[in-house]
Amino acid sequence: MGEKKNIDWSSLGFGYMKTDKRFVSNYKDGAWDEGVLTDDAEVRISECAGVLQYSQSCFEGLKAYTTQQGQIVCFRPDLNAERMADSCRRLEMPVYPVDKWVDAIVQVVRANKDWVAPYGSGATLYIRPYMFGSSPVIGVKPADEYQFRVFTTPVGPYFKGGAKPITIRVSDYDRAAPHGTGHIKAGLNYAMSLYQIVDAHNEGFNENLYLDPATRTKVEETGGANVIFVTKDNTLVVPKSPSILPSITRRSLVWIAANILGMKVEEREVLFSEVKDFAECGLCGTAAVISPVGKIYDHGDEICFPSGMEKMGPTTQKLYDTLTGIQMGRLEAPEGWIKVIE
Ligand code: PLP
Ligand code: COI
Repeated sequence: MGEKKNIDWSSLGFGYMKTDKRFVSNYKDGAWDEGVLTDDAEVRISECAGVLQYSQSCFEGLKAYTTQQGQIVCFRPDLNAERMADSCRRLEMPVYPVDKWVDAIVQVVRANKDWVAPYGSGATLYIRPYMFGSSPVIGVKPADEYQFRVFTTPVGPYFKGGAKPITIRVSDYDRAAPHGTGHIKAGLNYAMSLYQIVDAHNEGFNENLYLDPATRTKVEETGGANVIFVTKDNTLVVPKSPSILPSITRRSLVWIAANILGMKVEEREVLFSEVKDFAECGLCGTAAVISPVGKIYDHGDEICFPSGMEKMGPTTQKLYDTLTGIQMGRLEAPEGWIKVIE
């Protein structure tokens, strides 16, 4: 057995660090090959590859955790596999079969187990599966050949400061179009958000809040996470829209709120004009976990949630403790939520 890598786990941010092994599988002549683990972190493709010319690519994000019991586990990887299959169908890319997809995750995490942060360190191993068109394409059409890869990188909190409330601002630009690709994890959605995130950071905000692209009256999500709200009478409210990414964290929180915390849950359209009346707000996702939002800035107006800028609100804290408790093995997990790697 190897030794854990000598990393200062508690000071990690959300960044890339090259780990030992990655998984690579190629699609050619209508079929995926078996796939291999490799040391080679470089990708070599045609100058005219579909991904380089027309951005034919999608990705996923999940994490490996060390539990209190010392096992290495992943959280609901089958849902990431299915969401990637949805992304592939929308982008005219070949689906990587769900069972083989999960097996690839298991192989990569096992091969990099010394990079999985120890229990209680505050860090995790982020897993990045992705697929792209690798063969030449010059007329606008899908590529004939594809590559599916999975790498890992140890990470800390997505937002500096960890669980401290953040400030987000309403964006003037959209990340997705009506009837577009907002509901899948296409790289192009993130390219669409880069101008806005650089500007938000320059202006001192942590993230952009996007409103629905058709009417600009409803809350959608942020650049890298879904949004959750808690009402003053403790109902969990989550925005519903055809152009937001179906976050696995959000779907899990909805279940936890209803079935473990006994809360009322509403999944519905949320008007931006209602937001000022909520008691708590948070961003949820694999990278974000649950990051509390203290303030939303909207063109000179500020919405300050009663939970304040010092700590998460009490219900957000309960959701956070339950979700991370399940992921880290402190609480019993609902059937099928935890995939034991070893
Ligand atoms: N929304 C966007 C735009 C994201 O990039 C992510 C990250 O994956 C999420 C939401 C959260 O999804 P999940 O909880 O499945 O990680
Ligand atoms: C994730 O949470 O896994 C994501 O892909 C979000 C990304 C912005 C880091």
